[in-house]
Amino acid sequence: MTDQLRLRRPDDWHLHLRDGAALRAVLPFTALRFARAIVMPNLAPPITTTALALAYRERILAALPPGASFQPLMTLYLTDHTSSAEIERAHASGAIFGCKLYPAGATTHAEAGVTDVGRLGPALAAMTALDLPLLVHGELTDGEVDVFEREARFIDRVLAPLAERWPGLRIVFEHVTTRAAVEFVRAARRGIAATVTPQHLLHNRNALFAGGLHPHLYCLPVLKTEADRRALLEALACGDARFFLGTDSAPHARAAKESACGCAGIFSAHAGIELYAEIFEAEGILPRLQGFASEYGADFYRLPRNQDEITLLREPWSPPASYPFGDGQLVPLRAGEAIAWRLLGAPA
Ligand code: DOR
Ligand code: ZN
Repeated sequence: MTDQLRLRRPDDWHLHLRDGAALRAVLPFTALRFARAIVMPNLAPPITTTALALAYRERILAALPPGASFQPLMTLYLTDHTSSAEIERAHASGAIFGCKLYPAGATTHAEAGVTDVGRLGPALAAMTALDLPLLVHGELTDGEVDVFEREARFIDRVLAPLAERWPGLRIVFEHVTTRAAVEFVRAARRGIAATVTPQHLLHNRNALFAGGLHPHLYCLPVLKTEADRRALLEALACGDARFFLGTDSAPHARAAKESACGCAGIFSAHAGIELYAEIFEAEGILPRLQGFASEYGADFYRLPRNQDEITLLREPWSPPASYPFGDGQLVPLRAGEAIAWRLLGAPA
């Protein structure tokens, strides 16, 4: 058994950093582990223009701890009205690496999202021409659809037709949660990939209700069945380069989670690589970790692989019950419970 694991420094291809005091509270966790992260644009108000994205990027850089080496890769939030000119500005900025499709109402701050992908023609044409990837929150928001079926129905009704209508468009199917999604990606044309979160690899939906309701395991897309979880693990076990790391770390204050109407989102940046190491080891696929965490995503985004390394130690540690989060607290994934791997250099 290896007790020490040296890994090409990883990147997080799906991250929520928030703004202001919340940004300052969470950014150091990511910057310590990851060299780069795709930063999601679902702020309130959302990052719908290049000017907003560039200003947000400056706020992120200003919030970095001294000496940190971390690059935020910005994204635009698509709306029914995103113009081709806006996509051209985004691409020309050199700071924007994808555009996010939130179906209207699908999740946190998705109210201004897209009501009908048919309205995205000008934006998608420009993105195809400029090779700017489309990042998709893949859930059908139709109130008739069972919440556990939203991802599978989205594939049939929206994503598969969209991928066919725009054959040159590169697409990341974000935070895949189901066997249907894994099968879609594996059978898809070139240029389609997916991110996978730690929570969807660690838990099935029983965990939400085990011995009582667990709001800190509530995220969107919601946890799925054990068969779905196994399908995600099988895709990673094959070393399929279309699946790569995206934590979807999504901090909300404890009060907003432990509420009569709790927010969706799981904070995992404090152990954003350690949890994956634990999962890969438990599956007996630790040699697959580096590709998933540090190579396939960079290759998809056509960015250089990082040249520096991190070291993980087989040394169990427990995250605290909460971290400070502006005026409130932030309950991390695995709060107070052991995590099998520790990052060398992480504060105890
Ligand atoms: O659980 C989630 N939280 N899913 C999302 O899609 C958004 C995220 C957030 O921003 O809180
Ligand atoms: Zn997300």
